[in-house]
Amino acid sequence: MSLSNTLVAICRDLLPAGADLLEGRFRVRRGGLDAGRDAILAVVEGAEAVVADPTVAVDGELLEAAGPQLRAVANFAVGYDNVDLDACRAAEVTVTNTPDVLTNATAELALALTLAAARLIGEAERDLRAGRWRGWDPSAYRGLELSGATVGVVGLGRIGRRYAELLRGFGGEILYSGPSRKADAEQALGARRVELDELLGTADAISLHAPASPATEHLIDADALKRTRPTAVLVNTSRGPLVDLAALAAALREGRLGAAGLDVYEGEPEVPPAILEAPRTVLTPHIGSATVRARDAMARTVAQNVIAVLEGGEPPNRVA
Ligand code: GLV
Repeated sequence: MSLSNTLVAICRDLLPAGADLLEGRFRVRRGGLDAGRDAILAVVEGAEAVVADPTVAVDGELLEAAGPQLRAVANFAVGYDNVDLDACRAAEVTVTNTPDVLTNATAELALALTLAAARLIGEAERDLRAGRWRGWDPSAYRGLELSGATVGVVGLGRIGRRYAELLRGFGGEILYSGPSRKADAEQALGARRVELDELLGTADAISLHAPASPATEHLIDADALKRTRPTAVLVNTSRGPLVDLAALAAALREGRLGAAGLDVYEGEPEVPPAILEAPRTVLTPHIGSATVRARDAMARTVAQNVIAVLEGGEPPNRVA
């Protein structure tokens, strides 16, 4: 049966690696990168599959705007906190994500931010560009050396584990916290599971790799930041709501935290002035998975999931 009349709505945009696969089979409608909420609600009307991304709230309103024929929501991301899974289940809409293909890219960005924050690269570069560099100074920009440092991985899932693997080369101890014990990772990496409080109080570098959920909202808040070492480096490549940015900015300003490397922000793309102005930060604009390889593979994965559902099969990456 030809599905060439079946409508697939791409709420914003999808790279050709995935879009070409869809366009060869279905009728495809796109909202474009600048589509606001109303435009997205209009784009999804009548669609049998919707392609969303972390900026698109897939909730009851969107499902209703799409209509009862909607069968799939394919999220262009591994995280799916933007999707109301209960509402999708109630509407019998399958939800998929793009795991695995971005694990290396995101873990590598976390490593890059760890090194950049630890060595105060953001601050040093900002000074150089602004003409504030007055010559070699033995006491300037003295950061944390990662070799031999204790690293705390909050959430030892796929990305956290890959980050821990990369960090193993620095020869320090690897601690992790999370809801379940990962015996295989403990064996393979020599990682040790501890309570979050112990991790926060012990680690020289702390990297967050947990999904956004009510349980992880402001996991790093003013209280947590009272426990960290004043020289510790905090890195977040997971989701913005895990960190209370006002509390983080205060800890940096008051010298209670060594440095921070952030890729995600609560309320992004807005970034609070307190964070922009805080010392010892390296800030990137949610680019964890932004490698050519990962983003193309994510786009292909999105398309494969849509095709599987619309052709009546089981999608490779169902989350609901
Ligand atoms: C990106 O943020 C992702 O979850 O894949």
